[in-house]
Amino acid sequence: MPVHVAIIMDGNGRWARRRRLPRFAGHKRGVEAVRAVVKACAERGIQFLTLFAFSSENWRRPPEEVSLLMQLFSGALTNEVSKLNRNGIRLRVVGDLSRFDPRIRQLIDEGERRTAHNQRLTLTIAANYGGRWDILQALARLARAHPEAVRGEIPEEALAPYLSMHYAPEPDLFIRTGGEQRLSNFLLWQLAYSELLFTDTLWPDFDAAALDGAIESYRQRERRFGRTSEQVEQAERAQARATRGASETHKTA
Ligand code: IPE
Ligand code: IPE
Ligand code: MG
Repeated sequence: MPVHVAIIMDGNGRWARRRRLPRFAGHKRGVEAVRAVVKACAERGIQFLTLFAFSSENWRRPPEEVSLLMQLFSGALTNEVSKLNRNGIRLRVVGDLSRFDPRIRQLIDEGERRTAHNQRLTLTIAANYGGRWDILQALARLARAHPEAVRGEIPEEALAPYLSMHYAPEPDLFIRTGGEQRLSNFLLWQLAYSELLFTDTLWPDFDAAALDGAIESYRQRERRFGRTSEQVEQAERAQARATRGASETHKTA
């Protein structure tokens, strides 16, 4: 099972257009798909789910669409937090929140605070998020905290605590719905070694079964992290022996 799944939820507009509906109908159905996928991830024991809801480039859309997306976001923050809480889900929002209106920022604050003690699943919503922004804000904060550290070479471990998703391991599985095969400035740093999966399914049609399909595809893959296949198999055998050994010691004890 992947520990961390990150998703670009794309295709709401096309879902609506195919039905001759206005784009907002697709966004509304998109919110329903979010509910279903959050539930499915919690049930499957996935610990981190990260959803790209609004990119730093999405402000370029027509003002009516931006405003509708903001309404959906604030509506979800108002109506869904209690349910997240009941299900042991922690909410986090990452991105440059300074551009949101104060009411939305307050709802984000409250939602994060109310769910801060939950440990079953951490749901991160990336809103006004951009991967380049993330790297730059991390560098800026590192430079403010440790001016001496940025004069020489900067090791990865020095930057990591300042990235906006410092609290989560890097995504194991990345999914983009809607058929496009690009990252659109999502988690650039953190996706370095994630398994990438692109599906033609439009986001409003993505459900628990589609998630299971993605997980199945993930399980077929061999994550080598630069090593050879033989090395990976050897390490897996050693790990299996160690686990068997441990359970036998446990039985005799
Ligand atoms: C994704 O669906 C939702 C957001 C970007 C907010 P789109 O609105 O991009 O849908 P398409 O790509 O036009 O079909
Ligand atoms: C990416 O989708 C951002 C989100 C899903 C929030 P877009 O639909 O905005 O991406 P591009 O513009 O097609 O790359
Ligand atoms: Mg799109």
